[in-house]
Amino acid sequence: MKALVLSGGAGTRLRPITHTSAKQLVPVANKPVLFYGLEAIAEAGITEVGIVVGDTAEEIRAAVGDGSELGIEVTYIPQEAPLGLAHAVLIAEDFLGEDDFVMYLGDNFIVGGISGLVDEFRADRPDAQILLTQVSNPKAFGVAELDEHGKVIGLEEKPAHPKSDLALVGVYLFTPAIHEAVRSIEPSWRGELEITHAIQWLIERDLHVRSTTIYGYWKDTGNVTDMLEVNRTVLETLEPALDGEVDEASEIIGRVQIHQTAKVSGSRIVGPAIIGPGAVINDSYVGPFTSISENCRIEDAEVEYSILLKDSSIVGVRRVEASLIGRNVEITPAPRVPAAHRLVIGDYSKVQISS
Ligand code: G1P
Repeated sequence: MKALVLSGGAGTRLRPITHTSAKQLVPVANKPVLFYGLEAIAEAGITEVGIVVGDTAEEIRAAVGDGSELGIEVTYIPQEAPLGLAHAVLIAEDFLGEDDFVMYLGDNFIVGGISGLVDEFRADRPDAQILLTQVSNPKAFGVAELDEHGKVIGLEEKPAHPKSDLALVGVYLFTPAIHEAVRSIEPSWRGELEITHAIQWLIERDLHVRSTTIYGYWKDTGNVTDMLEVNRTVLETLEPALDGEVDEASEIIGRVQIHQTAKVSGSRIVGPAIIGPGAVINDSYVGPFTSISENCRIEDAEVEYSILLKDSSIVGVRRVEASLIGRNVEITPAPRVPAAHRLVIGDYSKVQISS
């Protein structure tokens, strides 16, 4: 069995972060979201992994390399434009050959991995297996309709009038039957070859599409709110480790991981929180559900429920909350006079000022 991991896409809902970086590499508890998926695949005993890449190919390659550190062997499959999930299967046909495969969307986050699911698929081998979960906003997803026995009878992509609240989760299991389906469908209104339509094509030909409804935790990390929420969930399971330099005047409470090269002085850190390599926290408060990446500096400041990407600083500002802060960002107070906000902000940024 192989895995096909989709790691292209523009990531428009995570702008401006995604102007300069792949959405799948935004860190959750200081580890790229994509790595959680790759680890789940390795754990399920799958080693041959094709990663479909787009505009951010170079960055994904730099982060994942040949996959050996994760115990997998990676083949990169370039997709010239984000033309849809079924298009990704189409261009991966040579890599996939006649093998069964799991398709995993690189920005999806599932707690508990996929080993059970992969074992079940291997044992029964339906033509395809999909995962469903209840959502409050089905219009934003692929949606399944089930009959009274729980059999999938129809799938629709981003329906205006959803027939249920069961969304397709971004993990799919396929036999080679999917190849004819992806070759047979037409692009949708959004100009993409939808995997939802390819699976619908299988259903219409009476092939066996099995669904499993999951009640555990799943998020498509495409937007900031979900990203912060996933970060919160992962931090809740963090192994505490106070390896860095923490002075006497500091107080560390709860699940906190401080990297051995990080320095904390005169500060209060209330976990769960993670402080990455080379980070400096001085005279500050770091509150629950905060991930601070490498070489960040928090000085005379307060931050909580936030993710900071590497090389950023918050100095003299309180309090920053529910924020996703990119790389090399500086947040400082404005001069007292005039009482004005001074902003140098990239395209598609979102700033909320409390005054
Ligand atoms: C894709 C699929 C959709 C699925 C979702 C899960 O949506 O097309 O059916 O529910 O992933 O994350 P997209 O991310 O392309 O909008």
